[in-house]
Amino acid sequence: MNIYTFKDDESFVETAASIISSLVHVNPHAKLGLATGSTPVGLYAKLIEMHRKGLVSFAGVTTYNLDEYVGLPENHPESYRTFMNEKFFNHIDIPLEQTHVPNGNAEDLEEECRQYDQMLDTYGPVDIQLLGLGHNGHIGFNEPGDSLSGATHLVELQEKTRTANARFFPSIDDVPTHAITIGVASIMKARQILLLVRGEDKAEIVHRALKGPITTQCPASLLQCHPNVVVLLDQGAGRLL
Ligand code: GLP
Repeated sequence: MNIYTFKDDESFVETAASIISSLVHVNPHAKLGLATGSTPVGLYAKLIEMHRKGLVSFAGVTTYNLDEYVGLPENHPESYRTFMNEKFFNHIDIPLEQTHVPNGNAEDLEEECRQYDQMLDTYGPVDIQLLGLGHNGHIGFNEPGDSLSGATHLVELQEKTRTANARFFPSIDDVPTHAITIGVASIMKARQILLLVRGEDKAEIVHRALKGPITTQCPASLLQCHPNVVVLLDQGAGRLL
C-alpha cells in the first residue's frame, strides 16, 4: 500500500488526476471504477479541465460506478447518476452509453443487482477503482457488520451514513434508507485501487482502515489485502498515521 499525505488541495487533486489521466493515456479503452461523495469532486473538475485543454480524451473509456441510492428517480438532483452526469460525464467526451451506474429505481432491485454483477463479471475487472471512505469505514455502500457481501447487493444504510449524507438533502428524512452497492469482491478484483480521503473527521477511520485489524467491522480494512493500493490523504485525514 502506497500512502501519500498532501499539504495542499491542489497537489492532492493533481496527483489523483495524473494517476487517472496517465492510465487513460496508456490505455484509451481503460475501464474506470468511479465513486461519488464530496471527495472526488475536485478530481473530476481537474480531469474536465485537462480534457478541455486537450490533454486527455475519455472517448474510448468505459466507467462503472460503485453504488446508487434506492428510490430516487434517475434525474433526482441527489441521485448518483445525476451527480456523475453533472460533475463529470456531461463535460467530457465519453458517450453516456459507456457509463454505468446501478439503477436504484429498477422495479426488481434483486434482478438489477444480478445484472450489474454479471456486467462487471463479463467486462471487468476495472483497471482502477476510485474509492472514498465513509466515517464508519464503508467503501461504496458496503456497511460494517458481522459479514460482508462479495456481490452487488441491496443494502440498508446505517444511521451514521444517512446522517453523514443528510447535508445533501433537505432533511435526514429525505435521505434514502437503502442503496445498491457493488460488493467487496468486485472492489478487490480491481487491478489498482485509488483511495482518496480528506478531512480531520476521517483521521480515526483512516487509521483503523489502514493500520488496524482486517475486519468486516471496517470494510475498508480489507484493502490491506489488495496488492496495488494508492492512498491519497490530506493532512487532516492522515493525522493519526
Ligand atoms: C457515500 C458514498 C461512498 C463515499 C462516501 C464518502 O456514502 N457511497 O462511496 O466514499 O460517501 O463521502 P465523502 O467523500 O463525501 O466523505
